[in-house]
Amino acid sequence: MTVLYGTSVTLRPIREEDVDRLAEILAEPEVAQWWPHYDADRVRAELLHGTDVVVFTIEAEGEVVGCIQYNEEPAPDYRHATIDVFLDPAWHGKGLGTDAVRTMSKHLIYDRGHHRLAIDPGAANEKAIRTYTRVGFQPVGVLRQYERNAEGEWQDGLLMDLLKKDLQ
Ligand SMILES: CC(C)(COP(=O)(O)OP(=O)(O)OC[C@H]1O[C@@H](n2cnc3c(N)ncnc32)[C@H](O)[C@@H]1OP(=O)(O)O)[C@@H](O)C(=O)NCCC(=O)NCCS
Repeated sequence: MTVLYGTSVTLRPIREEDVDRLAEILAEPEVAQWWPHYDADRVRAELLHGTDVVVFTIEAEGEVVGCIQYNEEPAPDYRHATIDVFLDPAWHGKGLGTDAVRTMSKHLIYDRGHHRLAIDPGAANEKAIRTYTRVGFQPVGVLRQYERNAEGEWQDGLLMDLLKKDLQ
């Protein structure tokens, strides 16, 4: 079982008993704005039992505070990994997001052997973009009308990537 230790966060594999707590966090408006339409059933299906993602629960001070996941592109000539994350708003602004994304990035590069990582926040998600920039991700370009928001409108995304040498 892989457990990853950051400065303030611990990332450990998701468990059944995390489902309700993660659904509660995903129901917070500030999180639902970027991760819309998740209830406990969807958390169980996609985060606990999803087959294309590797999902870790984020703990801080012994509490479940969020979730971070990665997906790997298996084609050897395009090998890379993508990351997605959310945190309870009560814990925002304390450096935990930066810590979690940096810890996962190190794992993917040094343990999983990736040379490139990608992440695709909403183009308007300034907090996430600043967090990822702090880890070393750089903007690649705007993904036009990339994802639907909670209201069903297509929104731009920002493709960002990080090479091993960029990791801060
Ligand atoms: C994006 C997200 C994961 C960032 O997590 P976070 O823990 O709030 O991020 P950080 O605390 O590392 O950084 C945020 C701010 O806290 C500040 N900060 C960093 N370390 C800090 C510390 N030790 N003490 C106080 N503030 C700190 C940072 O400077 C940053 O401020 P700035 O944005 O004004 O520059 C979080 O906001 C979130 O879950 N948002 C909702 C879901 C979402 O958008 N997910 C991403 C989808 S792609």
